Amino acid sequence: MNENSLQDKKVVLGVTGSIAAYKAADLVRRLREKGADVRVVMTKAACEFITPLTLQTLSGHPVAIELLDADQEAAMGHIKLARWADWILIAPATADTIARLASGRADDLLTALCSASESPLAIAPAMNNKMWQNESTQNNIRQLRSQSAQILGPASGDQACGEQGEGRLLEPNDIVSALALLVVPARLQGKHVVITAGPTYEPIDPVRFIGNRSSGKMGFAMAVAAAEAGAGVTLISGPVHLSTPTNVNRVDVETAQQMHDEVIKHIDNCDLFIACAAVADFRPQQLELNKIKKMEKDQLPLILTPTLDIVSAVTGGDKQPFVVGFAAETTSVETYAKDKLKRKKLDMIAANQVGEGRGFAVDENELQVFWAEGSKMFPMAPKNQLARDLMTLIIERYNAKDTT
Ligand code: PMT
Repeated sequence: MNENSLQDKKVVLGVTGSIAAYKAADLVRRLREKGADVRVVMTKAACEFITPLTLQTLSGHPVAIELLDADQEAAMGHIKLARWADWILIAPATADTIARLASGRADDLLTALCSASESPLAIAPAMNNKMWQNESTQNNIRQLRSQSAQILGPASGDQACGEQGEGRLLEPNDIVSALALLVVPARLQGKHVVITAGPTYEPIDPVRFIGNRSSGKMGFAMAVAAAEAGAGVTLISGPVHLSTPTNVNRVDVETAQQMHDEVIKHIDNCDLFIACAAVADFRPQQLELNKIKKMEKDQLPLILTPTLDIVSAVTGGDKQPFVVGFAAETTSVETYAKDKLKRKKLDMIAANQVGEGRGFAVDENELQVFWAEGSKMFPMAPKNQLARDLMTLIIERYNAKDTT
């Protein structure tokens, strides 16, 4: 499970000179809560933002700062630390540290440790949004990715400098859930995950449609989590206002029919299918070719006809990927979800209560997940974190099915 994947893991946490360095204190606590053994390495610039004593107290170990310090090297030198670590996590990582890592520098303790280590590296950037978008930073990120570093975030939002945009450090909880997903055994390397997200729009005439309140946030968060787990990801999305996650192949559609056709096109080489989209169950039987004029009608009877059920088309097809459905319910969530699990022949179903300010469009959600032999409750959490925790459970169930 997610919580357990960090149990007894040895994590070197590199902290660099960003205003977000204060979040490292919370991060150390949360990593330790998950059972990780944490050794902190700080750059000198980081010590301007948070004291080593704080991180020493929280981690329970001396903090290493100097490369050329006989005492620190004698305690646990950079080579020993490099060998000790199961993971090296740099959070926050400044643009400067990222540039120095990308160019292979090894002239302070943190960069020397990274270059001497064969342990996997995860980097959580934190910087001003212009610095993040800067071509050199983006080249450096590409370079580090090509060397198998995992980039966690950054998040978007208000920045310490007063600007808005991408570049914020992920919240400590998000970093921990992302790392837990990276650490989970038997991830999704070499697997193809197809995910549907967002609403569908069913046209009435050239300007009107029947839609729903799905924002695509949950489906896009699932795509991020699947890509972080190492899968090749195809995200088939209805109309949403979200940018495409890194390392995700996005296909935009509008109607249930188009979503169905794209899913079927991609299902042949699909290992896991995750149906998070809020697909219209009905569409207008007839599409008016011209805009319906108000004065022509007192009433507008609309005849609706059922759409194709995409998830059932997948479970009823020749190719049988592992299929996870979602259920959006306003009442009797468990009863209806369990019925859909059986009726649609799903491997798992993630059910959420929807309605006024719940499930649709909001940033947080809670889920009840059911499968034939069990269930799990995911309490209210940001959708990104929820998606990672759900993905970890999906991987566990997928592997259990694969080996039975
Ligand atoms: O997008 P957000 O704003 O973040 O909101 C997230 C969400 C509430 C949309 C998401 O968490 C969710 O519940 N998605 C499923 C919504 C839904 O349509 O549920 P349903 O109970 O009507 O459908 C059950 C399952 O059948 C779903 O997996 C659905 O994708 C699938 N389905 C439904 C109809 C259809 N014609 N084809 C389908 O494949």
